Amino acid sequence: MSQLSEINMTDMRSDSMWSAADVWIKKPHVVNKRLCGVTETEYMDVDTAELIQFLFSLLGPNIKIADISMFLHADVVDKEHETAGRWCVGVRTIIPKVNKTGECLYKEVIIKDNVRHAVTFIPFEETGVEQVTVKSSNIYQIQLQLKPEEWMFSLHALTPEHWWSDGVAYPKLSWLYTKLLPKLSRWALESKTSEFKSTLSLIPVEKYGILYHQLKEKYKALVKVWPEVTDPEKFVFEDVAIATYLLVLWGEERTEKGTTTKQSFVDLGCGNGLLVHILNNEGHPGKGMDIRKRKIWDMYGPGTHLEVCIIGKGRRYRKAEEALVEKQRSDYIKRREALFTASGVSMNVNQNSHYRPNHNDNGQNISTPVNDWVNGFQPREKTETIRNCAALPRDFVDAVVLRVAKALLSLTERNTESSSCGDAWNTGGSMLISEVVNLLDQSSLQALKKECGGLQTLLKNNHQVFRVEGGRVFIRDWRKTTLAQSSRVTSKRKPPPSGAVKTRLCWFHTHHPQGCPLLCEHCAFAHGETDLKNPQR
Ligand SMILES: C[S@@+](CC[C@H](N)C(=O)[O-])C[C@H]1O[C@@H](n2cnc3c(N)ncnc32)[C@H](O)[C@@H]1O
Repeated sequence: MSQLSEINMTDMRSDSMWSAADVWIKKPHVVNKRLCGVTETEYMDVDTAELIQFLFSLLGPNIKIADISMFLHADVVDKEHETAGRWCVGVRTIIPKVNKTGECLYKEVIIKDNVRHAVTFIPFEETGVEQVTVKSSNIYQIQLQLKPEEWMFSLHALTPEHWWSDGVAYPKLSWLYTKLLPKLSRWALESKTSEFKSTLSLIPVEKYGILYHQLKEKYKALVKVWPEVTDPEKFVFEDVAIATYLLVLWGEERTEKGTTTKQSFVDLGCGNGLLVHILNNEGHPGKGMDIRKRKIWDMYGPGTHLEVCIIGKGRRYRKAEEALVEKQRSDYIKRREALFTASGVSMNVNQNSHYRPNHNDNGQNISTPVNDWVNGFQPREKTETIRNCAALPRDFVDAVVLRVAKALLSLTERNTESSSCGDAWNTGGSMLISEVVNLLDQSSLQALKKECGGLQTLLKNNHQVFRVEGGRVFIRDWRKTTLAQSSRVTSKRKPPPSGAVKTRLCWFHTHHPQGCPLLCEHCAFAHGETDLKNPQR
């Protein structure tokens, strides 16, 4: 057994530990994004003998009971003085987002030890009724230990040297302690679980998993043609997930009510309209409305019902006036829409130029500026604030990029100097985003805080220089960049096509102590001013 990682915590109670452990047990998909969720059996309170019996009958002779007992500290139990209600045991089935093996079910026995404040996971695979394979290599335990004056979370694996990972049902051991343990400590401190009911608990998770997989396949092509500036992967798959959820929920509701009529819907503030597109396409009548039309709306086709519309206007008009008001609104929207189409400029409501009729106590029409909104309605700003770091001053961004890149390069400078092989270009080390924060002064951090995604977004936006993966930032090595590493690159590094014009300077050519590792003709970025805007031969 080996203790792999510790997170020190003060002010902890054991029920906080169980709240945190329950998030990982019941909702592992919150942190392992490759999972849809889990289903669980009922948990049973058992004594030690019953626990061993349970393991033996479920997992059969292929489990080494003596090793497991020792790992659980169940071998030293004094039967006479055994704590009643020490153990609580159940089984969960893990549902991956991508169904890799069809028939195989990924399961885990979960053993909660109320005396040692520990929870043990024994993974096994079920391929048939009687066919159970225990994954002895991946048995692990999370424990909350009380040290003098402080609590701490620790992670133990039965045989860490044999640990096996597929990155899905079997995460890497290093992932468990670098990603899961910090999350557990945060959840424990926040003790959030009781505050929110899992939305997935309202629908059958298996159905969700299967449908999500089907819809992802069906709509993934949109990622390639996404005309918006937003991240296609994030938006497409997020909306596929929301649509899946609604479709399963509504399907259950129809079954319950014994009807086949598909539910209708309205999506107010539908944005890119993808959710509406999927729901319409899957047979649900309904429409989306937004104050601003998006480029992608034109790509969906006539089956997707989207409208430009201002939501939130007061509607307290006399019947006779309603038609006139409606016409004025429609005219206004049409004018804005025409402007949008003609200029390609995004559509926004100019509140000051828009008046709506109202009536005074005598029923006479008066005109009031539109900032006389219905109570509690907060209209959006005239201009949409861009908060994805794109509007930060270039000098500021350049300075942050240089600072972070220098820090990464300094981590490995010595290695490259002493390297005897030919490939001595310094690719730098890597840092956690939380470590990068320490490189920046307060005012820079303050400026970044106002942007969506903050520092991480800035680093991701500077895709030419950095690669951000799993919360760590690396220097991008363009010699190795493949499709998997960069969604903006179409294949393993190819020279820029002939006739292509370079529009941006190569950061590495300008700033890296060893220059750019690619030859000028192989680099998509300009090696100096003379290379800029020069058509490639
Ligand atoms: C946070 S976005 C949500 C977009 C989309 N529903 C989603 O989940 O991705 C809010 C949307 O509401 C729209 N919106 C804001 N105020 C509006 C109004 N008064 N009338 C119509 N749409 C509005 C915005 O244009 C924006 O697309």
